Amino acid sequence: MTALTPQSLAVGAGALLAAEVAYLLLRKRFPAFRPRLTYHLWAVALAVLAAIAYSGASPEANLGGRLLLAAVLVLSAVVLFALVEALVLLRPWKPDRGPSMPKLARDVLGLAIVVAVALYAATAVLGQPLAPLLVSSTVVSAVIGLALQDTLKNIFSGMALDLEKPFQPGDWLLLDGDVRAQVIEMSWRSTHLRTREGLNIYEPNANLSVSRLVNYGSGKRPVAIEIRVGLPYGAPPAEVKEILREAAQSAPGVVERPPTRVFVESFDDHAITYFLRVWTRRVRAIARIRDAVDSRIWYQLKRHGIEIPFPIRTVHMHEAPDMEKHRGAKALRKATELFSAVDIFRDLDAEVIARLAAASVRRLYDTGETLVEEKAEGGSLFVLERGSVRVLKADPKLGGKQVELAVLGEGAFFGEMSLLTGEPRSATVVARGHCGALELGKGPMAAALEQNPRIAEFLSRALARRQEETAAALEGERGRAAAAAPADSQTLLRRIRTFFSLR
Ligand code: CMP
Repeated sequence: MTALTPQSLAVGAGALLAAEVAYLLLRKRFPAFRPRLTYHLWAVALAVLAAIAYSGASPEANLGGRLLLAAVLVLSAVVLFALVEALVLLRPWKPDRGPSMPKLARDVLGLAIVVAVALYAATAVLGQPLAPLLVSSTVVSAVIGLALQDTLKNIFSGMALDLEKPFQPGDWLLLDGDVRAQVIEMSWRSTHLRTREGLNIYEPNANLSVSRLVNYGSGKRPVAIEIRVGLPYGAPPAEVKEILREAAQSAPGVVERPPTRVFVESFDDHAITYFLRVWTRRVRAIARIRDAVDSRIWYQLKRHGIEIPFPIRTVHMHEAPDMEKHRGAKALRKATELFSAVDIFRDLDAEVIARLAAASVRRLYDTGETLVEEKAEGGSLFVLERGSVRVLKADPKLGGKQVELAVLGEGAFFGEMSLLTGEPRSATVVARGHCGALELGKGPMAAALEQNPRIAEFLSRALARRQEETAAALEGERGRAAAAAPADSQTLLRRIRTFFSLR
């Protein structure tokens, strides 16, 4: 063998330098190109080969040279495949999709190419007929077969899953009926999933291919959630179904299409069971959607006076008549106290206030629920007993954008404008959190106005003040005076008197 000359060493060093510079450039241009140690080994082996070749020696002349040649071949295959992967296979054809080739297919393809090159190198360069040896040797086959039994099972299961595509990265799966997790990536051995709690699950592909998977998708298509609720026999199913449908449809995260459907499912011991099919795209937050729908149902039923029944035994043990009477009296006392503190009722006799309080109905609302809807017919006034609400008005000059007029807290009243003038609701009122309000209809209010016509004057001033505030809020939002001019309190007083037929 010819000794390495300084010139051949320089050629080797030059080749190494060129390969390393190429590595840095490629890494910068294609961050996905990451063969790391393999690349450096390949660069060194290539440099040594270049130096030997330059010195005029044949690398195939001795075993060391042949081994080097074989190593260069195999490492070249790895590096080249990494380059093709970074340049082509990892690049998405569509920006919103993942890599154009799934990880499992890339891994298997890469492995097959490297094994083929290694077999070629062993046969052609080293002169070892490794392939027939591997195939014919029963001992080797048995050892490899047994050792790789599980791995091969996972690879083939993974390939089957990849072809069938029962799920894709980004989909949410229900595993074994109780674990909900999102598919992150599939590799040749396992599928990487992540739960809502941030836990990583590496589920062997073989397990996935035999277990029953429920795929919720990634949220592009809506999925249905099934909810069951037992309600009393006394409530007419048509009315109940409408209430349930409305409650579910109003919950955040529930889509309008397909619409919620409600069915009577069965007549049970203490209740009629209703079954709801509710659709959502928020597949990662199924529990939250259930919670929102269940809560909305509870509030809607409460407002309609429908109780979710307990088993009969419990109901009658606790609902002793005395207790009920006591509870009713306490609620009335609280309502009277609240009404006495509301400034529009200030001029009324204690007796009239007590009558108004007795005529009011307690309503409870969940966060985000609408108490009063702009432009809707409105025949009642509300006094907030608990929590707070936002008053919002859609401004047509801002393309219907809702402007916040006020945030009202405990003791505040709203809905008086429609009640007193008969006009449609002037704004939307939305619950800021869980809140309770006492609702008062037109009848009791008419009686109060009859008893003390002076409160109409006070009310008209309150109305005029609110209308001015509304105009100011809209002006502020638009930057210049463009809101409709508020009516003055005398005009409003006339409207109230006409509406309630007062003299
Ligand atoms: P009504 O028009 O019946 O329904 C919407 C209610 O929002 C309205 O009565 C008032 O009670 C209330 N509202 C309207 N404008 C304002 C405002 N600027 N500040 C506070 N509340 C308001």
